[in-house]
Amino acid sequence: MQKRRFFSLSAGAVLVALSLAGTPALAQDKFKIGLILPMTGQQASTGRQIEAAARLYMAQNGDTVAGKKIELIIKDDAATPDQTKRLAQELVVNEKVNVLGGFGVTPAALAAAPIATQSKTPLVVMAAATSSITEASPYIVRTSFTLPQVSVSLADWAPKNGIKKVVTLVSDYGPGIDAEKYFKDRLTFNGGQVVEQLRVPLRSPDFAPFLQKVRDIKPDALFVFVPSGAGAAVMKQFLERGLDKAGIKLIATGDVTDDDQLNDMGDGALGVVTSHHYSAAHPSAMNKKFVEAFEKANKGMRPNFMAVGGYDGMRVIYEALKATKGQGGGDALLAAMKGQIFESPRGKIFIDAQTRDIVQDVYLRKVERKNGQLYNVEFDVIKDVKDPGKAK
Ligand code: PHB
Repeated sequence: MQKRRFFSLSAGAVLVALSLAGTPALAQDKFKIGLILPMTGQQASTGRQIEAAARLYMAQNGDTVAGKKIELIIKDDAATPDQTKRLAQELVVNEKVNVLGGFGVTPAALAAAPIATQSKTPLVVMAAATSSITEASPYIVRTSFTLPQVSVSLADWAPKNGIKKVVTLVSDYGPGIDAEKYFKDRLTFNGGQVVEQLRVPLRSPDFAPFLQKVRDIKPDALFVFVPSGAGAAVMKQFLERGLDKAGIKLIATGDVTDDDQLNDMGDGALGVVTSHHYSAAHPSAMNKKFVEAFEKANKGMRPNFMAVGGYDGMRVIYEALKATKGQGGGDALLAAMKGQIFESPRGKIFIDAQTRDIVQDVYLRKVERKNGQLYNVEFDVIKDVKDPGKAK
């Protein structure tokens, strides 16, 4: 007994001595990126896509940058803001991460924002897309998109293509409210009319009663925003209720014809027009390489717009670390993230230094069958779109 106790004490002492002598040097050589993602629950596909993209970026660009060994830490918040906040705290206080990233939904990004501010830790939003998120902390940088950014382009396209009378249907929270407002304002400006605005709950929505209502109103088109992962259910019920046969067109942000689900939606999805910042079918050399490498590394999984937000987010972090020569504290890293401009698999992107938000091309796309698979095929582009939510 006595002996064992002595042994464990001395082992403990050795550990303390080791950590005193060893950890600071080790810590200095490490650069920790803490990604908080929904790996379980309704938004799990977002976590799966972003994790895969972050790992691909590291595999392609190495795990040592400016003399620092990059350590990627992934935490699952199940898209629940209480958990996001606790995990952000743990990552900053215990793990001493240099950068926070991920954030699958708006409430998660907003919950972590005060922790970024208090600890002066840059926070890279790779998924969430409500316009106001970047205003929640001066340490937030975004590599995803905003709903106003993509919604206005569709509201410019619609009336020129015979769509004047529209019903909107959105998930009832930040990005949905943004999509509804910016789509309506622009459509109205263009001489169209939103005749009804429907909001569905974010958690386990039942679209059926809402779609029945749309059928009764019989607009030219139904405009939809639901978050990544929920699009297939909307498409299925839209077709099951015969809205297409009743002559109602489905138009949407690209979240609905999500590349993660599109290929399983079937021929009913053919011809659906959406606006978005990324399609796996984007015809650039860089994107072809990206899609090929991503599919190869992930048993054929097709990257969606979440993956691209994660991939580009990693690039923004890597380049900031390089620019600060591995020395970057939070403020220096943040400064080096602002103003970055580079080619992404989606096209050219720019992190606006003033707003810390992304400026990017927005594409109009139509679902088509290509080589036997369903894709969002781009047919028009609006260049260098800033978030209209910031143009106050
Ligand atoms: C968000 O919660 O901000 C969000 C989530 C998924 C999307 C778009 C926006 O596809």
